[in-house]
Amino acid sequence: MAEYINPDYVPEPDKMNVKRGLEGAVIDTTSVSKVNPDTNSLIYRGYPVQDLAEQCSFEEVAYLLYHGELPNAKQLETFKAKERSYRTASPMLLNTIAALPKACHPMDAIRTGVSIMGCEDSRIWDATPEVNLDKAMQLLARIPTLVAADYRFKKGLKAIEPKADLSIAENFFHMCFGKIPAREVVRAFDVSLILYAEHSFNASTFTSRVVTSTQSDIYSATVAGIGALKGPLHGGANEQVMHMMLEIEDPAKAKDWMLDALANKKKVMGFGHRVYKSGDSRVPTMRKYAQVMADVTKEQKWMKMYDALEAVMVDKKKIYPNLDFPAGPAYYMMGFEIDFFTPIFVMARTTGWSAHILEQTANNRIIRPLSEYIGSEQRKVSPLNERK
Ligand SMILES: CC(C)(COP(=O)(O)OP(=O)(O)OC[C@H]1O[C@@H](n2cnc3c(N)ncnc32)[C@H](O)[C@@H]1OP(=O)(O)O)[C@@H](O)C(=O)NCCC(=O)NCCS
Repeated sequence: MAEYINPDYVPEPDKMNVKRGLEGAVIDTTSVSKVNPDTNSLIYRGYPVQDLAEQCSFEEVAYLLYHGELPNAKQLETFKAKERSYRTASPMLLNTIAALPKACHPMDAIRTGVSIMGCEDSRIWDATPEVNLDKAMQLLARIPTLVAADYRFKKGLKAIEPKADLSIAENFFHMCFGKIPAREVVRAFDVSLILYAEHSFNASTFTSRVVTSTQSDIYSATVAGIGALKGPLHGGANEQVMHMMLEIEDPAKAKDWMLDALANKKKVMGFGHRVYKSGDSRVPTMRKYAQVMADVTKEQKWMKMYDALEAVMVDKKKIYPNLDFPAGPAYYMMGFEIDFFTPIFVMARTTGWSAHILEQTANNRIIRPLSEYIGSEQRKVSPLNERK
């Protein structure tokens, strides 16, 4: 049904202060991360994301997001031991994922899996900081197990048990493929998890905070975050980037493809950002590691296409790539099926969501905005037999 707008509606600019898409609206404070569009920078708890990517593991960054400080060696060991002890998924969880239709998108499977995790948790209503942090650890540990199990079930294979002597990144490769690739491939993957971990009040994090603000539980807030992340205007873009690159097929065709897309006013996936207007702070690091993957696989085609598409977009529209643009081909070159790119994003972003859920819980006020009504004036309900 088309949108009904009252023909007598006259906008009153003085009264009406609609920020479509909440553009520019500052809705709360946070100490988790800061995006600065003027300097194209992003800090997690004060640390530049590029430095964290080059100097830390994903586990250290997860600890930082949860606790506000980087761990010392002892704290990291304790953190890792706990995360590793939570990796195994229950038979009920695995059986439910296995029973889903093969055609269901992995994001829907993961969303369902996290929902079941909530059903299995007898402390679901306990939102004390210690218990919520423990649940955050379970989400961090078990979401990769769910993603990898779904990956294998969709291929008609059995799930592979997690191993407790591997990092999160190594263990994920092990659970998907039964083997761990070269060190630089694991590193490129780990860096992508760090870059995807957190990004202030983006759509999915905001969604998680809205759900938390009603005093709902961390699983419900995470399920809602997954739902928001799935969309191609948000996390789903990393999958769309690779579909686009496969459609273009040849780097020599990239320039004309982009010119045609722009002429037809198409939204090109992996470009643009609500906050960054002159470049995404995470892109140079991810592009570097996508190039590592091109060198490892001895396949330069995708990076050539990357450069050709970016050159036209920047030249014609001054719109720059976002993180999904290098992440898409990087995951493809690591051997993952395209449908699993956004679930990998979930594995990383669960850390940021949980940090925000903890923050929202600690200082909560229900999030309840207003809207400007543009529908019919108040009117009487006529009896059924008198209606036209
Ligand atoms: C990220 C995104 C949703 C931000 O949306 P937004 O802040 O509402 O920005 P708008 O859609 O209003 O874009 C502003 C202008 O830039 C253009 N633009 C923005 N992103 C574009 C893209 N990816 N391709 C082509 N044009 C784009 C818009 O068409 C619009 O042009 P107009 O003023 O002539 O109409 C948007 O850039 C987009 O859809 N990008 C592609 C999806 C994507 O990569 N998402 C991942 C984000 S991290």
